[in-house]
Amino acid sequence: MSRHFLRDDDLSPSEQAEVLALAAELKRSPYDTKSLAGPRTVAMIFDKQTLRTQASFSAGIAELGGFPMQVDGRLAGIGVRESVADVARVLGRQATAIVWRTTGQERLDAMAEHSGVPVVNALTDDFHPCQLLADLQTVQEHLGRLAGVTVTFLGDGACNMAHSWLLAGTTAGMHVRVSGPEGFQPRADVVVRATELAATTGGSAVVEPDPEKAALGADVLVTDTWVSMGREEESVDRLTALAPYRLTQALLDLASAEAIAMHCLPAYRDKEIAAEVMDGPRSVVWDEAENRRHAQKAILTWLLRQWGITP
Ligand code: NVA
Repeated sequence: MSRHFLRDDDLSPSEQAEVLALAAELKRSPYDTKSLAGPRTVAMIFDKQTLRTQASFSAGIAELGGFPMQVDGRLAGIGVRESVADVARVLGRQATAIVWRTTGQERLDAMAEHSGVPVVNALTDDFHPCQLLADLQTVQEHLGRLAGVTVTFLGDGACNMAHSWLLAGTTAGMHVRVSGPEGFQPRADVVVRATELAATTGGSAVVEPDPEKAALGADVLVTDTWVSMGREEESVDRLTALAPYRLTQALLDLASAEAIAMHCLPAYRDKEIAAEVMDGPRSVVWDEAENRRHAQKAILTWLLRQWGITP
């Protein structure tokens, strides 16, 4: 079956649970699963900056017995030098899977349509589903559960991370609150979709512009940079508008007693997250970064199994 991982809701609730269980197993035993033995090649294309994604996919693909093939998005000029469809047809003949960080979601959709191999979203303007698998794995490790957990996303509620929390969190049965000012609220269709998902899993999706109300009693406080890649020209306006949404110790004090603080990184201390929170005892940011590798190995292996490429 031609499955891809282009957005968080490409996995049903039971499939997401299956991938997360596999991620936990791969974390316990990192070198025993060789789903890319051959070595099979996975093409990794970056049209935007990267550290964690490149490092964790490279290490993870190697651990699975495969070869991580770097494709420089700037050299390839995908959609400029040649169409996304033609790049997909070419890479699909060289690689067993394609991992792509790019801008528009429609570019990823076109890649998946024409590649003939599984495609994984390594971040678009709209979603960052691999990060969410790692984040859900991290919540599960620290809080022991996902269903029923309340997570509050603070800051740029219109960014890829907020959207992914809405979809992946509600898929997991979580209560997802997004708190940002006017102009920084999630896209309506994403909220609608999250609400639909929540109705099937017992979770919920809420937009709450008041950061204190949003943080009250939450089990997880999460934020992301106020200036996502590609938004650099809006930096000054964003820093002003989003300042009340900084993840501070004061907001953490409003959350539940065992609440954890999350950030996908890169982080800007004392902008979207107070240094004392980022470097404090409730912070789980380094676990999130590590879990990228385990979670991405899991989704790659799961997809290859769906396609009948690996047992
Ligand atoms: N929202 C951020 C996430 C970085 C991992 C961005 O798109 O730049």
